[in-house]
Amino acid sequence: MKKRIIPKRYLISFDSHTYSHIFTDILVVGSGVAGLSAAIQASKKSSVLIVTKDKIDENNTAYAQGGIAVVLSPEDEVLKHKKDTLNAGQGLCDASVVGMIISEGPKRVQEMIDWGAEFDKENDHLIFTQEGGHSFPRIIRALGDSTGREVENTLIRCIKRNKNIKVFEYTYAIDLITDDDNVCHGIVAWHPKKGITLIWAKQTILATGGCGQVYRETTNPNVATGDGLAMAYRAGATLQDLEFVQFHPTTLYIAGAVRFLITETVRGEGGILRNKNGERFMPKYHERAELAPRDVVSQSILKEMQNTHHTHVYLDIRHIPKKRLYTRFPKIKEICESFGIDISKDLIPVRPSAHYMIGGIKVDRFSMTTIKQLYACGEIACTGMHGANRLGSNSLLEGLVMGNVAGFEASKSAQNVKGTLAPFSISETSGGSKTSWLDLEDIGNSLKSLMWRKVGIEREEKRLLQAEEMIEMWCRYVMDKEFSTPQGWELQNMLLVASLIVSSAYTRKESRGVHHRTDYPQTDDIHWKKHILVIR
Ligand code: FAD
Ligand code: SIN
Repeated sequence: MKKRIIPKRYLISFDSHTYSHIFTDILVVGSGVAGLSAAIQASKKSSVLIVTKDKIDENNTAYAQGGIAVVLSPEDEVLKHKKDTLNAGQGLCDASVVGMIISEGPKRVQEMIDWGAEFDKENDHLIFTQEGGHSFPRIIRALGDSTGREVENTLIRCIKRNKNIKVFEYTYAIDLITDDDNVCHGIVAWHPKKGITLIWAKQTILATGGCGQVYRETTNPNVATGDGLAMAYRAGATLQDLEFVQFHPTTLYIAGAVRFLITETVRGEGGILRNKNGERFMPKYHERAELAPRDVVSQSILKEMQNTHHTHVYLDIRHIPKKRLYTRFPKIKEICESFGIDISKDLIPVRPSAHYMIGGIKVDRFSMTTIKQLYACGEIACTGMHGANRLGSNSLLEGLVMGNVAGFEASKSAQNVKGTLAPFSISETSGGSKTSWLDLEDIGNSLKSLMWRKVGIEREEKRLLQAEEMIEMWCRYVMDKEFSTPQGWELQNMLLVASLIVSSAYTRKESRGVHHRTDYPQTDDIHWKKHILVIR
């Protein structure tokens, strides 16, 4: 692979004398489960500012459906959940981190319940569901299929009554401010009223979520453009495991519709996958059939689509009693109905799409990145919880636990930073040309399409090299520009993140977990039971 284009250190030119300054003990970037959990914990001893680029509740968290995997059933055990998680991770999990997150989970979920979260119950007992790869029904849910919405709303209620926490909505973090000693001092941001603003913090927590938007087919909302990954990379943080992009097997596939997720718990409740000819196919691919691990289900669907020359397969839940379906999956019922599909009578057209970034900014068990005074938590972080494949419903759990850890650790460190923050002068020139006739949307769509075709569920050297060449060509005329709105910065971030995914996928010459190389179909522990690190 050729040498990658090294991006500019900062996306924009700025002079600290010219712009407005804001100060806070703890800066949290992102308002999903991880960012909000971090903010709530940190606010116990510190002032906190949350910066988020859209409205506070627009994020992956709010769209989560299936639930939270947590050991709360009296018959379940931490060790069993740990074993399932390690099995899915195929040799790349950090067992001590897995143990820590799973053991802490019940405490964090109980805290949410104390804050008013309502998880679904029967006769006053929590209901537990099963998902692929879990050996036990341990997934709790809310409002049938709107768990993320309940989690997000509960945390927002806590934030709103907390006097130590301020929130800037529609405020875009452009870059981290770092010094020559590898210390982070906050961010350069774009505020809708103040314009470019320097936010100085004793400690900064990145919780900007995933990057599903680099793919044409994705379950992720528009905000998931990988900004935090790109910012951290430009600032010199170590990233790892970026080749491990998880594809969710079942997204509603209707031309013109957003790729709405059809939760795995539909299969947990007995949903069957059928091909174009109406044949059930999963039993021939895996002994656990529809409840095989996600990577197996996604790859099997792809094979069936290829074999039947069809754009999708179908999910069949017609055998489940209508009343049960409608109360169990009210949101799915509503969305499908809006496209003329009655889930009790009709087959649901589905196919896989990009869902979750398993890799991310490398952090230790205290959520600390390789840059001083910079923490990361949630989907953006790579803690070692998921290894090469994430078990369903393990990420809300991770976000809750590690958000709390990041908030605690950052606040503790902030107490040791004496005195008030003094901004140092910075004058950065990005060197980018400000004139441009680029159609940003067109380039973005081309990138997404390229990633889907060449860097999707199945990868292979020739196609990865083609992807790399195209991205490099686009970078040549996009990265040398200086934009003044989020759309341009997002495109630059997506190009950078896509190029890092491609180079990591190219480097790992084996198949493991969600990374499936058709030219290297075997898992090769001797050479590749290790992480691929990416550093600027
Ligand atoms: P997010 O919730 O994505 O939050 C990121 C935040 O960062 C957003 O508020 C965004 O606006 C902000 N941000 C991003 N860039 C910037 C920037 N430049 N400046 C300022 N702010 C920025 N997991 C489970 O465990 N169980 C499930 O049932 C489940 N279902 C899912 C269903 C769907 C459809 C999806 C998409 C994911 C699902 N997941 C599920 C995964 C899980 O929801 C996410 O991994 C998790 O919510 C991520 O939380 P987070 O706080 O890290 O990031
Ligand atoms: C789902 O509900 O299928 C998504 C669960 C997850 O991604 O963890």
